This record gives sequence, C-alpha cells and structure tokens, in this order.
Amino acid sequence: MNREIHSIGLDIGSSHVRCVIGEAAENGRMNIVGYGEAESRGLRRGIVTSAEAVSESIRRAVADAEKISGLQGEAAMVNLSGEHFRGENKAGVVAVAGAGREITEDDVSRAVESASAMQLPAGWEIFSRLPQEFIIDGQDGITEPVGMTGARLESLVHIVIGPSAGRQNLDKAIRRAGLSVERMVLEPLAAAESALTDDDKEYGCALVNIGSEITSIMIFGRGAVQHTAVFPFGSLHFTKDIAHGLRVSMQEADKIKHDFGCVAAFLMNDEERQQVIEIIPVGRSESRRLSKEILCDIMQPRAVELLQHIAQEIANTQSSIPSGVVLTGGGSLARGMVEIAEQVFDAPTRLGFLDERYFGGLAGEVQTPAWAVASGLAISSIRSQVRELNSHGRSRSKKVAAWIENFREKFK
Ligand SMILES: Nc1ncnc2c1ncn2[C@@H]1O[C@H](COP(=O)(O)OP(=O)(O)OP(=O)(O)O)[C@@H](O)[C@H]1O
Ligand SMILES: [Mg+2]
Repeated sequence: MNREIHSIGLDIGSSHVRCVIGEAAENGRMNIVGYGEAESRGLRRGIVTSAEAVSESIRRAVADAEKISGLQGEAAMVNLSGEHFRGENKAGVVAVAGAGREITEDDVSRAVESASAMQLPAGWEIFSRLPQEFIIDGQDGITEPVGMTGARLESLVHIVIGPSAGRQNLDKAIRRAGLSVERMVLEPLAAAESALTDDDKEYGCALVNIGSEITSIMIFGRGAVQHTAVFPFGSLHFTKDIAHGLRVSMQEADKIKHDFGCVAAFLMNDEERQQVIEIIPVGRSESRRLSKEILCDIMQPRAVELLQHIAQEIANTQSSIPSGVVLTGGGSLARGMVEIAEQVFDAPTRLGFLDERYFGGLAGEVQTPAWAVASGLAISSIRSQVRELNSHGRSRSKKVAAWIENFREKFK
C-alpha cells in the first residue's frame, strides 16, 4: 500500500460541483480524505456556458475538499456529460503477424483502432473506446489477448462519440481554476465505478444517473459496457412543474420538492396525504395551503414519464439485466423514486451507494447516490495509478492501458 497515492474526483454538474480527494488504502480500498461541494454556475445541460462561472464553482468545491484533507490538488479526474453523447458497438479485425503469431500490445491497439474507424459528424470526436471482448481465430469471450497465439484478432468495442467543443470548454474552465485534467470519464461510467460490483457488470445491469438536467444510462453485461444513452431531462423538471403548477418561485419549488416531495402516492397513508403544506405564491405576501397529495399528483406523472423513456431505451437494446437497475445522481433521492422505478422497469431497482468494500475514511460523510460520480472518479484515478505502479517495468503502452481501463481489470 502506498499512502503517497492521491486522487481528485471532480464532478462538474449542472446544479452542483462536487470534489472528492482520495488516498490509496489497503486491499484495493480508497480512503476519502476530503470532499467539497459548491452550487454550480455557468452550465446548461452539462455543457459550459460561462467558463469563468464554472471555474469559480470548481475553485470553491476544491478549496473545501483541500481544507478537509490538508492536501493541495493538481490534476483531477473529471466527468464528461452533455446531451449529445452517443454510444455504438463496433467490430474490428486485424491479422496477427510475427514469430509464433503471439498477440502483442500493438496488435490489440490495431484491433481497437480498426473497430474505431467510423465517419464522425463535423466537430465530433471519439471520447471512449471501451473494449467488450476479443475473438481469436473464432474463439470469443477473450478479455486479455496479449500473449495469446492466433492468426486473426477481432475486437468488439463500445465507442462513445460526441461534440468536441463541450470537452474543450470544460477543459478550459478546469485549467482556469488552477487544475489540470488527468482524464475525462463519462458520467455514468464514473458512477458505475463506485456503485456497481463486478458481479453486477458481469451478469448485466443498467446504471441510471439522474442529475439535475441530464439523465444518462449505461448498460453493462459480460463485464463490459454494452450501451450508452443520454437524455436531456432530470430532477429540475420536477422543480419546474412545481413552480408552474403552484405558481411559486423556482427557489420555493426546489425547497418544496426537497422537503415534502414524493413521486409514489402509494407510499403515503391517508393521514399523510391530507397533511398541509404552506406555500407562498409569487407576488403574494400571504401563504396558501395545499395537501401533500396534490404535490404528489404533480410529481408522480412526471416521474413515470421520465422513467418510461429510460425503460423504453433499455427495452430497445434487448439487454438482459438480471442484476437490475441502479439509480445514482441527486435526482434518484426524491422520495419514492426507487419504488416507482421498480414498477416502471419491472426489474429489481436500488439506489447506488458507495461500496463499503472499496471506500473508507470519510466515506460516511458522502454516502449518498449524489456523490457516486465524484467518488467513482476519485477511485478510478487511484486504480489507474496503482495499476501503473504495479505494471512498472512491463511495457504496456499508455494507450492500450487506457482502453483496457474499466475493462475487467480488477484492482490489485
Ligand atoms: N432529496 C431530494 N429530493 C428530490 N430531489 C433531490 C434531492 N436531492 C437532490 N435532488 C435533486 O437532484 C438534482 C441534483 O442532482 P445532481 O447533483 O446529481 O445533478 P448535477 O450533477 O448537478 O446535474 P447534471 O448531472 O444533470 O449535470 C437537483 O435537481 C436536486 O434538486
Ligand atoms: Mg451530474
């Protein structure tokens, strides 16, 4: 174990920026040694609209985390978000040459490149190449082909593409805040790092990260990412519905949502349904009274509608998800979300908390699905650093190492 290994996970969201500072601990664990949160400014649907405002939010979140940890941040693992991401499954094939036809790093690299050959819309780029499996001379299901023998190497790769400008502007905002970017990781992939087990990924499950303005999903199976999708909606829709329906300000609506909101009427008994909430409509000085049932009548149909879009997307992929659905992101915290999601998905559904086997230190302070992304980013960085240290001397190229990242390799 090396206490010198630290990481910064920086989740830059439309409503909050969250920072987690981690330190490598025994047996593949990470101790959380610092955390900080700031309200987010200058982002819309995960995309930077004002670099200066975003930088300021980053500075505040990082400063709080630094204060708690007593450490100074340099490079951060950052989430990549935005409504335009698209995931596609591609296949590539290369011939293996050389003595004994032993597959090298270079062959793997060429096989993944070959799968990545695609026409991109102008201004778009490939963000992630996530290998699913390799096939050697027709033998499928291979995860570590290097060193094996064969003549024909095929690769199946999940490729995520999106517009370059979003990434570049995010990069600028982070640099303005005085940090460099270690790597950018797609938001649901980061959440999966902290909330899913290897078994979940192996047997099949869907991770659904419900943010403020963006909901993203990733479907896992056979230990790899099988599908990615992003939707331009999130928990802010509930706030807008409440503001509109009750004629209150957005701030008041947000407070009502947090304090009294529920998206599953069947969780409330008769007494609770009739409980009265006092609200102050915009432009009025006197309060109005309404029952909790009316608030739920506003929120529940919206929750069902949003979840149905996601359920449809999962159904379209015909994926098998015996490990069910895992919800992360602040939006998953609305009361009744898990229960209503379980009905809509018709699959076991749970909230994605930090896995206690991997997180220690101050993990109890951030043990909510809203921190899954920041914590997942921090532990991803620790895992990469430890792997790099362990493989020191072995000649794995950085490029291949990055692709193999998140792909079956276990934290040793
Ligand atoms: N207890 C709660 N009940 C209802 N809603 C909640 C609760 N806690 C957080 N939220 C909502 O979750 C949303 C914030 O979630 P999160 O922090 O994951 O979003 P974000 O990462 O900032 O945004 P995005 O990922 O969409 O860019 C807000 O809309 C907030 O109101
Ligand atoms: Mg988010």
